[in-house]
Amino acid sequence: MKIINVAGARPNFMKIAPLMDSFRSQAGIESMLVHTGQHYDEKMSDLFFRELGIPEPDVNLGVGSGSHAVQTAAIMQAFEPVLLEHKPHAVLVVGDVNSTIACGLVTAKLGIKLIHVEAGLRSFDRSMPEEINRVLTDAIGDLLFCSEQSGVDNLRQEGVAEDKIHLVGNVMIDTLLRHRGKAETSRILHSLGLSNGAYAVTTLHRPSNVDDVATLRGVMGALEEIGREMPVIFPIHPRTRQRLASFGIQTNHAQIRLIDPLGYLDFLKLISAARVVLTDSGGIQEETTILKVPCLTLRNNTERPVTVAVGSNQLVGSEPASILKAYRHLQNHPGRSSATPPLWDGHAAERIVRIIQEKL
Ligand code: UD1
Repeated sequence: MKIINVAGARPNFMKIAPLMDSFRSQAGIESMLVHTGQHYDEKMSDLFFRELGIPEPDVNLGVGSGSHAVQTAAIMQAFEPVLLEHKPHAVLVVGDVNSTIACGLVTAKLGIKLIHVEAGLRSFDRSMPEEINRVLTDAIGDLLFCSEQSGVDNLRQEGVAEDKIHLVGNVMIDTLLRHRGKAETSRILHSLGLSNGAYAVTTLHRPSNVDDVATLRGVMGALEEIGREMPVIFPIHPRTRQRLASFGIQTNHAQIRLIDPLGYLDFLKLISAARVVLTDSGGIQEETTILKVPCLTLRNNTERPVTVAVGSNQLVGSEPASILKAYRHLQNHPGRSSATPPLWDGHAAERIVRIIQEKL
C-alpha cells in the first residue's frame, strides 16, 4: 500500500514526524512525503525537518506565500500531477492549514482515499480560515482521526458515518514526549539570560490579533505591562513582524524581547520553563497542557476545548484589561493543578498506522 503524506506549514511538521516514523517501521506500507512549500524560511521549515529527523520530502511543491485563493490554488495545481504520477492508495493530511484542504480536495476529486489527522476540531468561528479548512477536509475525508473527544462529538453531530471516526490521541504530543529529554539540553535559557519560572513567553500570528492595528496595539500594550514585572520573550512569526512594522508599532525592548522564530527544541525548552505562556496558537495550547505550564489563550474560542477542561488553558480574548486580569489572577494563585487528556500518551501515531492497515 502506497501512502502520500502531506506537510506544508510549521505546525504540520511536528504532526507528520511520528507518523513518518511509524510508517517507516511498518512492512507493507510504502510512504512518501510531499512538502507543499507553504512555509519555506529556514527557521519555519528546514530546521524542523533536521531537529525532528523527518526524512527529506520526496517532492517539494515550492508554492510559497500568497492570498488564500492564490496559495490554495497553487498547491492544488502542483499536487494533482504528483498523485497522477505516483498513484497512491491514500493521502494523509494533518491539521487545518491551506495545504491540508488544498491537497485533500485534489485527493477526493481523483477518487483516492483521504485520511485526516486531527479531525473534528471546531472553534465554531467561521471567520478563522482554519475553521473552513477543518470543516471541508472532514466533509471529504474517508478516515478521520481525532485527538480529543470533542472532535468525535462534533463529527457525529455533523452526521459523519461512525466507521470513519477514530479517537487516537494527539500526534503533536507524540513528538513532544519523544523530544522532551533532548530539549532539556537546550541552552536557550542561558543564551537569553533567563531563569527557570521567571519569565513569560508569547506568540501571536492569528489574523484576528495581528491584522487589526487597534487590536495589535492593545495586545502589545498588555504584554508591555506584564514586561514590567518579568521579561516577556516573543519569538515572532514573520507575518506579525511585518504587521508591527507596517502599523508603526514600536515595542519597548526592555519589556518585550522580540526574537527570531525558534527551532522546535529551543522553543520546547523555553515554554517548559516559563511562568506563563500567552498565545493565539492552537498547538501551544496543547503543548502547555502536557508541560503543566499555565496558558492564557488570546482568543475568544478554542477548537481544543479539552485543554480548558483539564485546567491548564484559559481563554482570555484580546482585550488588554482581560489579559491583565487573567495574568494577575494567575500570579496570585500559583500552583493550579491540571490533568492530562485521555490518550495523549505518545502512541497516537502507532494507533493511526494500525487502523490504516486494518481499514484500507
Ligand atoms: C499558517 C496557517 C495557520 C498556522 C500558521 C503557523 C493557513 C490558513 N494558516 O498561517 O493555521 O497556525 O501557518 O505558522 O494555512 N511567511 C514567511 N516565511 C515563511 C512563511 C510565511 O515570511 O516561511 C510570511 C509571508 O509573508 C506570508 C505570511 O507569513 O505571506 C503568512 O504565511 P501563510 O502560510 O500564508 O500563513 P501563516 O500566517 O503562516
